[in-house]
Amino acid sequence: MQVPIPYRDVNLISLVMLVILKVVLAKDMPKVLVWGPGLHSRIVLPVRYFFIQVQNENGENVTQSLGEKAFEVTLDQPNGNRVRAWRQVLDRNDGSYIVRFRMYESHSDLSINILYNGNHIGDSPYKLKGMTYHEKCYCPIKSTKNWLKELKCEENYHQMDEDLSQFNHIDMSQVSKAAVSRFSNAGQHSLCHYKIINNQIYRKTYGEHVGFKMFTDAIFLSITRKVKLPDVEFFVNLGDWPLVKKGKKADLLPIFSWCGSDDSHDIVMPTYDITEATLEMMGRISLDIFSTQANSDPKWEDKIERGFWRGRDSRQERLDLVMMSRKNPDLINASLTNMFFFPKDEEKYGKIVKAISFFDFFKYKYQINIDGTVAAYRLPYLLAGSSVVFKQDSPYYEHFYHQLKPDVHYVSFKRDLSNLLEKIRWAKENDEEVKNIAKNANNFVRENLNPKDIYCYHVKLFDKYSKLLKFKPKLEDGFELVQQPTGIDSNCDCKRKDKKKKDEL
Ligand SMILES: *[C@@H]1O[C@H](CO)[C@@H](O)[C@H](O)[C@H]1NC(C)=O
Ligand SMILES: *[C@@H]1O[C@H](CO)[C@@H](O)[C@H](O)[C@H]1NC(C)=O
Repeated sequence: MQVPIPYRDVNLISLVMLVILKVVLAKDMPKVLVWGPGLHSRIVLPVRYFFIQVQNENGENVTQSLGEKAFEVTLDQPNGNRVRAWRQVLDRNDGSYIVRFRMYESHSDLSINILYNGNHIGDSPYKLKGMTYHEKCYCPIKSTKNWLKELKCEENYHQMDEDLSQFNHIDMSQVSKAAVSRFSNAGQHSLCHYKIINNQIYRKTYGEHVGFKMFTDAIFLSITRKVKLPDVEFFVNLGDWPLVKKGKKADLLPIFSWCGSDDSHDIVMPTYDITEATLEMMGRISLDIFSTQANSDPKWEDKIERGFWRGRDSRQERLDLVMMSRKNPDLINASLTNMFFFPKDEEKYGKIVKAISFFDFFKYKYQINIDGTVAAYRLPYLLAGSSVVFKQDSPYYEHFYHQLKPDVHYVSFKRDLSNLLEKIRWAKENDEEVKNIAKNANNFVRENLNPKDIYCYHVKLFDKYSKLLKFKPKLEDGFELVQQPTGIDSNCDCKRKDKKKKDEL
């Protein structure tokens, strides 16, 4: 019969074992680089996020995943209690991870723990000094300049500077008269005149279909909760097409649009699509710039070497692509998921298929991007994914397209699709080069299309544009106050002060 070990000794033995285990594990702990806006309490975003890059003992970046569940991230309050937040660690499958969390309320002196096998790693725990405000708190930092600096926003955006360089100064009473008379035909155009005065948002809409103002309202409200904007007023085009056709200088008008085109002068801002995906990340919307980065199945080698496309019939070339795919099923898999612009014709276009999850697109190696009514707003997510993008030549662009280069970030093909098959055949023969293009696209997205970048672009645009206004905006009749949502977080007692000059970042 075995003699039972006294309880006290069992404890002692397990304690010794635990210490040994920890020492052994510590030797195998990877080095990590950790950075990102989510680690700074003064930066408020709907979803807080930061990045982890694994390194080897020589400080070189590791390019292999340590496993989807390698890191655990928890949040503590100073009293040691866990913070309730919806958290995710996304494995980008290349040795780097995205950590993101959506808080339910504000917290003071939050600590973020990054654990590997239960042990702190990097400089964990990361302490966020002072209040970390919830997205819904109205606690604007008083200086736009400081806010831009704290978020490390770019000083200049190529597209923005080009758009704004068309204007020396802007007299909004003249702009307003001209815009309303030219573009306010009910039913045809949808315009919204915004005035931001003392960080309050007012608007007046023109046209019948102005429902999309909910998108601009949402981002402008979110921005004014974070930073006090300069007084500014502008027109937003809530429709698809850019409005200000190139032509006589006298016809030039400053109008903000989601999509620009080579033959128009509109001032482009991030689309409602990527903006909403930023605001509603980890909420209503599952497709966003981070979720697509973490979707790396199947591996490059296992992807089907064909072009893939799904969508609706909003442009002739989309129909042409589907017909081309029916003739060349070994090169292209393209089907319509909906038809309402053109008459249905199963003989020509095949059956309407059920839409499949965007994440399943990436079973195919070549993602075909074709304009819809205007630019296809899915491009950011395609670029973020693990396949390579084939992009139709197009006069339409979003705010970041002009930073992209054909055959660096995507494979280009002619607007009439005449060389698409040839390009796909080329890709099949040049796999390494194509893989590299996919990688460049991923890197571009990582550097330019993060949630922070969407906020930066908007605020920088308001800031630069406001300096062109000849007169300070004044409230007028017919403008409606756009109200902040209320009662979401009782813990929004904006105690924080703007930083003094000396401790500016
Ligand atoms: C390692 O990764 C970090 C983060 O992406 C990057 O800033 C750094 O330049 C990389 N180092 C090397 C040597 O590539
Ligand atoms: C096209 O793609 C869908 C979705 O992956 C698949 O179910 C279908 O079999 C493919 N068609 C052809 C002809 O390969």
